[in-house]
Amino acid sequence: MNVSILGGGSWGTTLAQVLTDNGNKVLIRDINEEFINKINNKHLHPFFDLTIPESIKATSSLEETALFSDIIVLCVPTKVTRMVLHDLNKLIKTPKLFVNVSKGIEPSTSKRVSEIVKEEISKENFKGYVALSGPSHAEEVILRKVTSLVSASDDASCAKFVQELFNNEKYLRVYTSDDVIGVETGGAMKNAIAIVSGVLYGMGLGENARAFLITRGIKEIVTIVNVLGGKMETAYGLAGIGDLIVTASSMNSRNFQCGLNIGKGMTIDEAIHSITQNVEGIRAIEAGYEIGKKYNVELPIINAAYEVVNGKENAKEALKNLLSRSLKSEKYW
Ligand SMILES: NC(=O)c1ccc[n+]([C@@H]2O[C@H](COP(=O)([O-])OP(=O)(O)OC[C@H]3O[C@@H](n4cnc5c(N)ncnc54)[C@H](O)[C@@H]3O)[C@@H](O)[C@H]2O)c1
Repeated sequence: MNVSILGGGSWGTTLAQVLTDNGNKVLIRDINEEFINKINNKHLHPFFDLTIPESIKATSSLEETALFSDIIVLCVPTKVTRMVLHDLNKLIKTPKLFVNVSKGIEPSTSKRVSEIVKEEISKENFKGYVALSGPSHAEEVILRKVTSLVSASDDASCAKFVQELFNNEKYLRVYTSDDVIGVETGGAMKNAIAIVSGVLYGMGLGENARAFLITRGIKEIVTIVNVLGGKMETAYGLAGIGDLIVTASSMNSRNFQCGLNIGKGMTIDEAIHSITQNVEGIRAIEAGYEIGKKYNVELPIINAAYEVVNGKENAKEALKNLLSRSLKSEKYW
């Protein structure tokens, strides 16, 4: 089967290898000529410099990518997803299945990628939508280390199709779900908590604080998933707590690293610019804060993070305020 991937960075090119391992032909579209050259001529992953299958091809042409396949994997930073889809929609000749693997919330609108796809892709060009997410560092998947993902769609046949497309019995186990809101929200909001985890680590705090944060952080993600209409159990699954565990405790996470630099004393701008790739968790913190206000729900960690990323409090003050909140019982629901 042919598969098109929009965005050939860390994750897009890694998934190209998974799909190739599974017997598919992949065409990647990227705007970075250096990446395209590396993939086509050197057969190297553009970030990790590891050899990838020669059959993986890359192009800068959106039209070529649109014609190549009826399966479109979306793997660009969420801030450019709308623009890319808007351009793509004009080039589509046959209906497409959209598989979103990016984990973010649109900066200006706080919309999820499923909402952006509905707005930008005409009905006649749309065959289905799947959110594919979970605890998955590209650095490990490219080495074919055991990983799990969840394939979520309103249409059970689309979720099943993508499960079978990506599942690899040697190293990648894919589950299905019918909860697109829960999977997309879990994937985006875990980045917010991962930034906080990095901040705590940068401040010199240890494993106890991290376990505290992950456990109370997942409660906030569950709250957000719930008010947005997703299922609470999704937040306790691979795309929620699973992804939070892997992101909040790994130097492979750009969100964790960004937080770490804030915790060590960099300004927010310095910390964002210290990471070469896009740090989607900053926007997730802002979106989480707005959701908390809109639905009038308590999100103390997200709110403290919001104060820090907006320069209203430094990390030490925010932590002091969190620890001096009124004492509570450990209620989850
Ligand atoms: N890296 C991971 O381990 C990983 C794992 C799971 C999910 N994700 C998610 O996947 C998404 C992409 O992450 P990544 O790590 O691959 O990022 P990345 O920065 O490595 O790659 C993004 C790619 O998109 C390309 N791009 C940017 N604007 C474009 C445009 N207008 N048109 C076409 N291509 C464009 C860039 O050139 C780059 O190659 C993020 O939402 C991330 O959260 C990443």
